[in-house]
Amino acid sequence: MQQTLTLGANGPRVPAVGVGTWQWGDKMYWGFGQSFAEKDVWEAFDESVRAGLTFFDTAEVYGSGRSERFLGEFIHKTHAAVVVGTKFMPFPTRLTGGSLAKALERSLARLSLRTVDLYQMHVPLPPVAIETWMDAMSDVYHTGLIRAVGVSNYSAEQMQRAHEALSRHGLALASNQVKFSLIDREPLENGVLDACRELGITLIAYGPLGKGILSGKYTPDNRPGGMRGRRFTRQIFERITPLLAALREISQSRGKTMAQVALNWCIVKRTLPIPGAKTGAQARENAGALGWSLTEEEVARLDGAP
Ligand SMILES: NC(=O)c1ccc[n+]([C@@H]2O[C@H](COP(=O)([O-])OP(=O)(O)OC[C@H]3O[C@@H](n4cnc5c(N)ncnc54)[C@H](OP(=O)(O)O)[C@@H]3O)[C@@H](O)[C@H]2O)c1
Repeated sequence: MQQTLTLGANGPRVPAVGVGTWQWGDKMYWGFGQSFAEKDVWEAFDESVRAGLTFFDTAEVYGSGRSERFLGEFIHKTHAAVVVGTKFMPFPTRLTGGSLAKALERSLARLSLRTVDLYQMHVPLPPVAIETWMDAMSDVYHTGLIRAVGVSNYSAEQMQRAHEALSRHGLALASNQVKFSLIDREPLENGVLDACRELGITLIAYGPLGKGILSGKYTPDNRPGGMRGRRFTRQIFERITPLLAALREISQSRGKTMAQVALNWCIVKRTLPIPGAKTGAQARENAGALGWSLTEEEVARLDGAP
């Protein structure tokens, strides 16, 4: 199994597992400042880099900018050679291509960087046309502010449009970041993964641990607090009981954790998982998804588990 990959046709080279940083500074959904704090996210960064996970995914909206600020601070503190992807949110008030350049400037300031390696449209929100945003992406690419263009939450058709619009500027779409895991398999059925393979676009898998549920540590009587816990309903646990049983058995027979098995499944499906890490221990564990591969039988077992 490949340990590194190129984002799209000619984007940056990254490890086959990345690091999600939505958690870093997010109070509302992830409880930053309650169950974990700055010291933990610093350790998540430090342990990731030590373990070779050097691709970090952030966004201008994560923690209202705190995630980008943490990442920038940590990069400067360590001088680590990392690859940074961030995202532009096309709020309905942002109506021109120029708003993208302005938002990018602010992201670069928070990150204390001159260039981001991957700049992604966060969602395909109307009213501005995909082509207008891709023209704006081309402008910031050609002024040297970004190294590659990505999108997120785009359907196969929207991705194709973005790819075509960029090709008119001599660029290729590097990635589409969508929800993908053993409990969120839509990209296998809705044409997104097929289109990615056809067009040479990397599918970046967000939520690859099903927001923690695939690690096996949660039960109907032990759910995380807040908004996330409300999503972990009894019905979901009932639905995924056979899947969790298969994950647990494979994890025990392979001497890997359930989280590592769930991430390895994403890699086997030729996607790039970016598990969110809150702590150094989680980052270290997630890096252990690399360096080995599920067998065909194990993959078939997981595929067959509802
Ligand atoms: N483009 C988009 O629209 C979009 C949307 C969502 C996310 N994302 C990106 O994708 C990243 C990953 O998605 P996600 O964070 O939503 O979900 P995820 O990666 O499936 O779950 C992350 C959570 O799982 C738990 N966890 C992580 N590693 C673990 C381990 N080794 N063992 C046990 N538990 C572990 C942690 O929470 P607890 O310890 O609290 O359980 C962590 O916060 C985000 O950080 C973000 O960068 C993008």
